[in-house]
Amino acid sequence: MNAPRPFSQGLLAWYDAHARPLPWRVPPAGIRAGERPDPYRVWLSEIMLQQTTVAAVKSYFERFVNRWPRVEDLAGAPVEAVMGEWAGLGYYARARNLHACAKAVTERHGGRFPRTAEALRALPGIGEYTSAAIASIAFGEAAAVVDGNVERVVTRRFAIETPVLKARPLIRAQVAALTPADRPGDFAQGMMDLGATICTPRSPACILCPVREGCAAGAAGTAERYPVKAPKAAKPARRGAAFVAVRPADGAVWLARRPDEGMLGGMCGPPTSAWSARADGATDAAAAPFPAAWRPAGSVAHGFTHFDLTLKVWRADLDETPPGEGWWSSPNAITQEALPTLMRKAIATGLGTGAAPSAPRGRRRGP
Ligand code: ADE
Repeated sequence: MNAPRPFSQGLLAWYDAHARPLPWRVPPAGIRAGERPDPYRVWLSEIMLQQTTVAAVKSYFERFVNRWPRVEDLAGAPVEAVMGEWAGLGYYARARNLHACAKAVTERHGGRFPRTAEALRALPGIGEYTSAAIASIAFGEAAAVVDGNVERVVTRRFAIETPVLKARPLIRAQVAALTPADRPGDFAQGMMDLGATICTPRSPACILCPVREGCAAGAAGTAERYPVKAPKAAKPARRGAAFVAVRPADGAVWLARRPDEGMLGGMCGPPTSAWSARADGATDAAAAPFPAAWRPAGSVAHGFTHFDLTLKVWRADLDETPPGEGWWSSPNAITQEALPTLMRKAIATGLGTGAAPSAPRGRRRGP
């Protein structure tokens, strides 16, 4: 009987034929021709792809590399500009860490990313997954790259019944054993593509799978059961209020920068009550940062990782400049502000326009 083909061989042959063309990726033919992935582009894409889909990341990635083609350019940019370009992508701590990391690479490493997963982990915002992904894709280290896609492929292959959070050390060990010394970066990306296109959460296309041989769940027809998840605790609800003050003369909206610590840190928005720290956040007009003729305008909701937030939106017309830190943002300028999606929705609700103010993405103004 023939020995079964190693897993990595089957996967890499499939990746050679089916690798997704992605703007940060050097395709297998390019690698074979001696082209090397740019560590800056690999790092930037991996940070953006944390908790975010490939489809959502593509246009952000293109804008970032057009505006800041090298890590030194990003390091030299004001952090506010980076936050502004990140607006809408979510998980904003990533943007602050991104800027801090660019500075560290520029100042501590002369603009060259460290080449090992271990050294990469010393940089801001780079944890276990990201360090392994950069080291393998950009520098050819045979690191075990384990994201959600890879967890799905591996738990199915070995029919791992342990809930995935507890099974992580076992999954990592299996991935380490499967990862080849040759082409580890293509292997990691092949695993991600397999998980994204064939070994999908629902209705996996086992019949098309290049590594179905030896897959325990595939053989049993139980792939959809994996990864096994522990029952989820219900998310707590939090409430608060957002205060949209509008200057009637030109329709400008009063914005404030949120403190660096806390939810949406460093981003902008209309002032809000202190919702971040409380389960019964104040929702009435008494929580406003300054007195005005506040009237209710509706509410907006947003699901954060650890809680669901509802903000009651208040609106007031105001001719004078209110006390405290902030600025009037005109209807033209507001599309360029570092406004998270939640804040755009709150402003739209306050203005009663329905549509959130946003720039036509891809055609944003310069700094
Ligand atoms: N998800 C995270 N990193 C990725 C990559 N390099 N290619 C495709 N999907 C990804």
